[in-house]
Amino acid sequence: MDTKLKKDFTKVCSDGYALGWHERNGGNLSYRMKKEEVEEVRELLNENAEWREIGTAVPYLADEYFMVTGSGKYFRNVELDFEDNVAIIHVNEDGTLYKIVYGLINGGKPTSELPTHLMNLEVLKKRDEGLRVVYHAHPANTVALTFVLPFDEEVFTREIWEMETECPIVFPKGIGLVEWMVPGGRDIAVKTCKIMETQDVAVWFHHGIFVTGHDFDEAFGLMHTVEKAAEMLVKVMSMSDRKVNTISPEGFRQIAVDFKVDIDERFLYEKRSDKIGER
Ligand code: 13P
Ligand code: ZN
Repeated sequence: MDTKLKKDFTKVCSDGYALGWHERNGGNLSYRMKKEEVEEVRELLNENAEWREIGTAVPYLADEYFMVTGSGKYFRNVELDFEDNVAIIHVNEDGTLYKIVYGLINGGKPTSELPTHLMNLEVLKKRDEGLRVVYHAHPANTVALTFVLPFDEEVFTREIWEMETECPIVFPKGIGLVEWMVPGGRDIAVKTCKIMETQDVAVWFHHGIFVTGHDFDEAFGLMHTVEKAAEMLVKVMSMSDRKVNTISPEGFRQIAVDFKVDIDERFLYEKRSDKIGER
C-alpha cells in the first residue's frame, strides 16, 4: 500500500513516539476512512476474513472502514512495518461485528481500546460528519497533573488554559475528565463518549489523553497543545504552589471576541485563591 492516508497515519505514530508519548505499546490511533480512500485500496482488501465481535454496537458506523493500530503493537514500529502493526477493519451491517480486511499480517487484533475508538467515532460522526480521527496517547506531563490537580473539569481546564494563550482557541470547550478505571472495556468507552458529545479532549486519570480531529494534523496538534501547556504547568508547580501573574477571565473573554471562538464560560469562574488547583 502506498497512499497519502498511510503516510499521514504513520506520521502521527512516528511523531508521537518521538515526543515520548508511546512507551512500549502505549497509545492507539483510529481513522474513519472516506469512501474514496476505501476505493483507492479496494483490490488489496480481503473481504473473506472472519467476522469478530466488537463487544459493543455502533449501528451508525454500519458498513464503514477504519484504519486502526493493532493491540500490543509499538507506535515506533509502524513506520518500519506498517502491515504488521496496523489494520483496516470493516464494520458489518448492524455495527456489532468487524473483520480485518488488511494488515496485521503476522496475526493479532485491533487495539484493546477498539470499543472506545468506535463508540467515540460514532458519537463524533453524529456531532460532525467531518470528525474522523480518534487518538490516544500517554503524555507524561498531563498524566502527572492527574495526581495533583483535583478531579474537577473546571479547575483542570482553567489551570491548563492559563499556561498558554492559544489553549482556549484550540479547545474552547475545555477538557473532559474520566476517573481512573480499568481500560479496554465498554464502561470507560461510555464515559469517554459522553465527553466527546460536546468536547474534543478527554483526560483519563492516571492513564492518558483521548483527542479527536477532522484530520491527523488537527488531532495531533490538539494533543500537542494540551501536553505542552501541561508541561509548563508542571514546571510552574515545581517552582511554586502559586501563580504570581496569570491570564484573567476578562483576558480570555477578549480572546473569544478577537478570535471569534465560543469559549465555555463555566471555565471562567472568579478565583478566590492564587494557589494552583484551588478555585
Ligand atoms: P493497545 O496496545 O491494545 O492499543 O493498548 C495500549 C493502550 O494504551 C491501552 O490504553
Ligand atoms: Zn492507554
